[in-house]
Amino acid sequence: MRKPVIAGNWKMHKLIADSVATALALKPLVANASHCEVVIAPVFTVLKTVADRLEGSNVRVAGQDCSTESKHGAHTGEVAADMLRDAGATYIIVGHSERRQFYGETDESVQRKTAAALAAGLMVIMCVGEMLEQREGGNAESVVRGQLEGGLRELTASDLERIIVAYEPVWAIGTGRTATPEQAQEMHAFVRRVFAERFSPQASDALRILYGGSVKPDNIAGLMKQPDLDGALVGGASLEAETFAGIVNYKS
Ligand code: PGA
Repeated sequence: MRKPVIAGNWKMHKLIADSVATALALKPLVANASHCEVVIAPVFTVLKTVADRLEGSNVRVAGQDCSTESKHGAHTGEVAADMLRDAGATYIIVGHSERRQFYGETDESVQRKTAAALAAGLMVIMCVGEMLEQREGGNAESVVRGQLEGGLRELTASDLERIIVAYEPVWAIGTGRTATPEQAQEMHAFVRRVFAERFSPQASDALRILYGGSVKPDNIAGLMKQPDLDGALVGGASLEAETFAGIVNYKS
């Protein structure tokens, strides 16, 4: 009953022509993928162009980040969540580990961005995940719990149907070192438990939890067999339409 989501995060890749070509190549390859929601997150500058070209298809568009501020004003360089919505985004990624590691993202800013995105009517993909030394030190669960509790702090029950959590162990992102399906399942089950404690068993049952970190066409099926894994957030392997379609169409 939880519809899987397969989302491609293009990060800081692709100029306009390449973005449009990839989106248009992807469209027919995933047109029959009714088993999941298909999302791509291009850079801000091409988001509207890509969203326009995908109109009427089953591929949705996401922003990769947004401002903590909802109110338009003097915030040079920031993009408000409703501006992304206006440009054609229906989803947003917040709290990606690259933003946490390299651009000063904190649980506090993730919480504010989540609130801003919800107010703009977007579906939020909130990323959490531990670093290698945290896992090796036995702290993976406490790190993920802290990120979840911090990011979700102000949410009310009515917000929850628009929240998706992406568990992305930092040591698996862009490294080719995927978590094993068992490692992913263990943390996904933990995320679901934290959600049940914080909100309710019903909200926790309905929550979609995506896995991210070196997902490829040849490992998606094993991951998707895990009971608490409801899709994937894909970086490198989403840049090429055929490869990403191979992940989306993991069932066939
Ligand atoms: P990757 O990136 O698939 O290239 O490991 C995942 C992500 O950063 O979301």
